[in-house]
Amino acid sequence: MFVAPSILSCNFNNLLDDVKSISEAKYLHIDVMDGHFVPNISFGPCVFKNLRDYCNQIFDCHLMIEEPLKYIKDYANSHADIITFHYEAKSNILDTINEIRKYNCKVGLSIKPNTKVEEINKYLPLVDLVLVMSVEPGFGGQKFMPIALDKIKYLYDYRKNNNLNYLIEVDGGINYETSKYCLDAGCDIAVAGSFIFNNTNRNEIIKNIEVMKSEK
Ligand code: DX5
Ligand code: ZN
Repeated sequence: MFVAPSILSCNFNNLLDDVKSISEAKYLHIDVMDGHFVPNISFGPCVFKNLRDYCNQIFDCHLMIEEPLKYIKDYANSHADIITFHYEAKSNILDTINEIRKYNCKVGLSIKPNTKVEEINKYLPLVDLVLVMSVEPGFGGQKFMPIALDKIKYLYDYRKNNNLNYLIEVDGGINYETSKYCLDAGCDIAVAGSFIFNNTNRNEIIKNIEVMKSEK
């Protein structure tokens, strides 16, 4: 399982140094919040666009915004590789998927903790990644909600039974203990914000999680 460090937990006066400190990571998770879809505002595309010149991680952009369709172009032009939007947002799902494809980005669909995973069945053949929220979106540093584990298991089995190939990603409250639960449930990528950036041995934490062996 890969780790996607979330820049939400970075020191924004020192963003580039913080990003350089996780050089072992394959993904960089970018949390965009608009103060409407979630009760918090983070940053927009101009904050991370120029990071592309200094790091080669896959930009995994998580849009926690009410009208993602309106802004796909901005995020695609800011070097997002994966654009994940919320099933619960107001934009039409199929239109948003098509808009993301138009810019040759990978498509991610995310569900909040209270959304039933079965609700997104019909979209699963159309996406590259499913992001299961294991906290209420909006803030870093919250406690992992175990309800995410059944959803990960479901998505793992559904993928196998239907010959699909989306990635399964989990987001919120990830540490050594919870990342192991997610790995065993069938998760491919774990987003981690505070657990990485509140510590100084960041690449070591990433490696420790990535070498864990699944019981599956
Ligand atoms: C929450 C964000 C997360 C957050 C995770 O809305 O989507 O990506 O940064 O932070 P931790 O790892 O601290 O729970
Ligand atoms: Zn996120």
